Amino acid sequence: MKIAKPLLCALLMLSGLAGWPLASAQPVSASAQAASAPARAQPSADQYSNKGADTCLGCHGDDDGAKYSAAALFASKHGHQGDKRSPFGAGGLQCESCHGPGALHASNKRASAINTFKPDSKVSLEARNQVCLGCHQGDKRIGWHAGAHERNQLACTDCHKIHQAQGDPVLAKAKEAQVCLSCHTDQRADFHKASSHPVRQGLMSCSGCHAPHGSTAKAMLAKPTLNQTCYSCHADKRGPLLWEHAPVAEDCSSCHAPHGSVRAALLTSTPPLLCQQCHSSAGHPSVARTSNGLPGGSAGGTAFVVLGSCTNCHSQVHGSNHPSGAKLMR
Ligand code: HEC
Ligand code: HEC
Ligand code: HEC
Ligand code: HEC
Ligand code: HEC
Ligand code: HEC
Ligand code: HEC
Ligand code: HEC
Ligand code: HEC
Ligand code: HEC
Repeated sequence: MKIAKPLLCALLMLSGLAGWPLASAQPVSASAQAASAPARAQPSADQYSNKGADTCLGCHGDDDGAKYSAAALFASKHGHQGDKRSPFGAGGLQCESCHGPGALHASNKRASAINTFKPDSKVSLEARNQVCLGCHQGDKRIGWHAGAHERNQLACTDCHKIHQAQGDPVLAKAKEAQVCLSCHTDQRADFHKASSHPVRQGLMSCSGCHAPHGSTAKAMLAKPTLNQTCYSCHADKRGPLLWEHAPVAEDCSSCHAPHGSVRAALLTSTPPLLCQQCHSSAGHPSVARTSNGLPGGSAGGTAFVVLGSCTNCHSQVHGSNHPSGAKLMR
């Protein structure tokens, strides 16, 4: 875990911290500290380290493996010195703005003396989340306390990784779903079905439809209603239409499974069954009423059962703008 001097300098340069007094570029080891101040009392638990990040970097270099990279932090927005809101902005507490006061830990090297952000941390879940919320209350976290994730005791850090060399996976469209599906295993299968939203292909993410930080909508949808969520990408289905098909304006999920389906076009069942859930199969005008129009009949009644079935004729299932589209046929 000890960091070589050139590496530390490189890290500091990377972070733009090179201008700092580099007296501390001497790797600080606990034994050296102890030797220089033998009579100094143990720091108290609420004391900050006296050299900020330099204290920590003396022991926590870039070589701690996949979970921790100091360079990754400095390359991220949290390492941005020009932003005074960031931990490394002017006057910021640097590492300790997240990990809390670290003087005691820097002297005794015990994990139990610092906020590790792990489930067994000395700091409670609420307090750990509060560290992040302290800087990130606004905007998208507005629904945090209303959402299922907060209710089910998730930590910000169940999804977010702060120190990973390849960046925070949950922020990358193509990687986000893997984070979600690590807990939501039931949904994984849906996205492997023959017809599914292209999440697995990395073309869209769960957060295209869901507010991961919580919302007051059903199933933490990103928009207040299910249909509004769908319209955010499928604007053409919103209308206004001359001839609406009532269930479309009401609830897309009366015909579509949002995640995936074994049937084409994410349908919950296939026409004619799909349509017959609501429309009586008896008494169909002008076609089915005559014996010729029945399946197998000479007038091509099989249109009722082959291919698109009902949609062979009623092709405009989502509604029509054609003056004579009342029956959704054009
Ligand atoms: C004198 C060396 C030293 C200094 C200085 C030091 N640490 Fe540590 N730190 C350690 C050691 C050793 C461990 C491993 C403890 C263990 O596994 O029980 C550790 C563990 C940690 C952990 C927990 C890692 C885990 O696996 O749970 C965090 C977080 C941490 N340090 C952050 C900091 C921060 C922030 C600072 C600066 C305020 C800092 N450290 C300063 C030596 C140091
Ligand atoms: C923006 C908040 C934040 C800042 C700033 C921050 N950390 Fe962390 N750190 C975390 C979180 C959260 C974790 C838990 C693992 C994760 O999410 O990546 C963590 C984990 C660690 C670990 C344990 C890694 C492991 O092996 O699991 C060490 C060591 C550590 N941080 C040291 C530091 C040092 C040193 C600095 C300053 C250079 C620093 N951290 C700055 C949030 C932060
Ligand atoms: C001292 C304030 C501060 C703390 C504490 C803090 N952050 Fe940040 N964070 C920031 C700032 C500033 C930004 C950059 C915001 C921007 O550019 O709009 C940021 C950006 C982010 C981003 C977006 C990164 C990106 O690349 O777009 C995430 C995710 C994030 N923080 C998560 C966390 C988590 C999780 C914690 C707690 C472990 C945390 N933050 C703690 C200040 C903080
Ligand atoms: C269930 C996973 C999950 C949890 C838990 C989570 N986030 Fe996020 N977060 C995401 C995803 C996905 C994104 C990117 C998509 C988006 O912005 O909605 C994101 C984006 C962010 C961003 C950058 C974009 C922005 O809104 O500024 C910040 C900051 C952030 N989260 C902070 C937090 C904080 C603070 C917590 C804890 C209170 C938290 N997150 C908990 C998944 C999560
Ligand atoms: C650490 C585990 C974990 C991760 C990671 C996680 N979730 Fe969850 N999520 C839960 C738990 C627990 C619940 C509540 C129980 C349930 O509904 O399964 C939940 C509930 C939900 C719900 C249902 C909300 C409701 O009101 O019915 C949605 C939607 C959801 N999560 C989406 C996501 C998305 C999107 C991501 C990734 C950005 C994600 N989750 C990541 C654990 C997780
Ligand atoms: C195209 C939009 C969309 C995408 C993309 C999407 N969801 Fe959903 N999800 C929904 C809708 C709509 C519901 C509500 C279904 C209902 O209750 O009628 C839902 C419900 C859920 C639920 C609640 C339980 C359930 O199945 O009803 C969870 C958990 C969930 N989604 C997780 C995820 C995860 C994880 C991802 C990414 C892998 C994801 N969703 C991607 C639209 C979407
Ligand atoms: C974030 C954008 C986004 C949102 C929100 C969204 N979709 Fe999609 N949808 C897509 C993309 C991308 C495709 C794939 C288009 C393609 O392959 O040409 C798609 C395809 C579809 C398909 C056709 C699938 C097929 O196999 O032919 C249906 C049906 C569909 N979406 C319904 C919905 C419903 C219902 C909702 C609301 C619950 C919804 N979508 C929300 C982006 C979105
Ligand atoms: C009454 C049942 C029904 C409802 C409700 C419905 N759809 Fe569809 N949808 C279908 C059928 C059937 C298809 C297959 C189209 C075909 O065979 O021509 C389809 C196909 C689609 C497609 C892929 C082809 C295309 O037209 O782009 C999208 C996208 C789509 N629907 C989105 C939506 C959205 C968004 C909603 C809600 C606003 C919705 N659907 C409501 C029955 C429905
Ligand atoms: C969830 C129930 C539901 C489903 C499923 C459904 N419809 Fe409808 N449909 C309705 C309602 C309600 C009306 C409006 C009836 C009215 O105005 O009298 C309607 C109207 C129609 C009309 C126009 C009727 C008229 O009298 O002007 C046609 C044509 C139609 N639907 C065809 C279909 C087809 C084809 C499918 C399958 C792809 C389908 N419907 C699936 C509920 C449904
Ligand atoms: C061969 C073409 C064809 C097929 C296949 C077909 N229809 Fe029709 N449908 C029609 C015609 C023609 C009308 C009458 C239009 C008119 O009166 O202007 C009609 C009218 C309707 C109406 C309006 C009823 C009314 O009283 O005006 C509904 C609802 C309907 N069809 C549903 C269905 C359903 C459900 C299916 C599948 C089981 C289906 N159609 C298959 C041609 C077809």
